[in-house]
Amino acid sequence: MNSIPINKKDSENLSFFQDLYNVKIPDIGNITIKDRKKISSNIKKYNFTLFELNDCTNSNLLKFANNLGLEKIIQNPYSDKNGVSNITAIKDKRQGEYIPYTNKKLNWHTDGYYNSEKEEVRAFILYCKNPAIHGGENYFLDHRILYKALMKESKNFIGYLTQKDVFKIPSNKNLEINRNFSSFVFNVDKANNLTMRYTMREKNIEWKSSEQLPKIKKFIDNFLDLNNPLIFKIKLKKNQGIIANNVLHARSSYEDLENNKRFLLRLRFGDELK
Ligand SMILES: [Fe+2]
Repeated sequence: MNSIPINKKDSENLSFFQDLYNVKIPDIGNITIKDRKKISSNIKKYNFTLFELNDCTNSNLLKFANNLGLEKIIQNPYSDKNGVSNITAIKDKRQGEYIPYTNKKLNWHTDGYYNSEKEEVRAFILYCKNPAIHGGENYFLDHRILYKALMKESKNFIGYLTQKDVFKIPSNKNLEINRNFSSFVFNVDKANNLTMRYTMREKNIEWKSSEQLPKIKKFIDNFLDLNNPLIFKIKLKKNQGIIANNVLHARSSYEDLENNKRFLLRLRFGDELK
């Protein structure tokens, strides 16, 4: 197994993620059966996989995703024709209103929690072209783990979180997508896959009133504490990426230089990786 560049001081983290392969793929047009098996094994166990490529263009990154069965691109206003968005700090006033395009900390969320069912984000890729000088770590938690923990704590928590109107995104000019939208947090699809829509942000989201809500929020906040050994922490290095079945994720703030900027590519898909 290849070594995994995670924080080696965190021995508990190492033990949970000891079966995670960092899959090195020299030729994206020709993924070997052995590497495909490693990716599948990662996905099955962790709901995400790490990978490393030789330097790659936006269209090649899309081809790589296609070769893994991710076909349905979910666009956003800042993605190119390949569905690729540049995740870097941007001075543009409008785009710079969104935290992903700044150097600020990004709170826990799943991608496209405000998207309609048709535009549901089921998988994403983050690929590092250039890491930050300081900070810019990414954090991931398989939402299946959180679901099980909530269920163990109280079936009523899950009962609340699976309601179709448990939160509402009111129309707001500051959101990428401007609509009134209600949704569940957890759902099980026809293929029996668990999906999650969540944001830790308090702005532009209205939760359905319930006396359980403060307890649930507290439980989730505690669970997403970075000392939880089930959280995968990584600072992606150049040409390293992660593909995930839209698991919960967050990012620390970072520092870079104008001539040496943190630069990641992101793609989103409506298909699940198997
Ligand atoms: Fe995200």
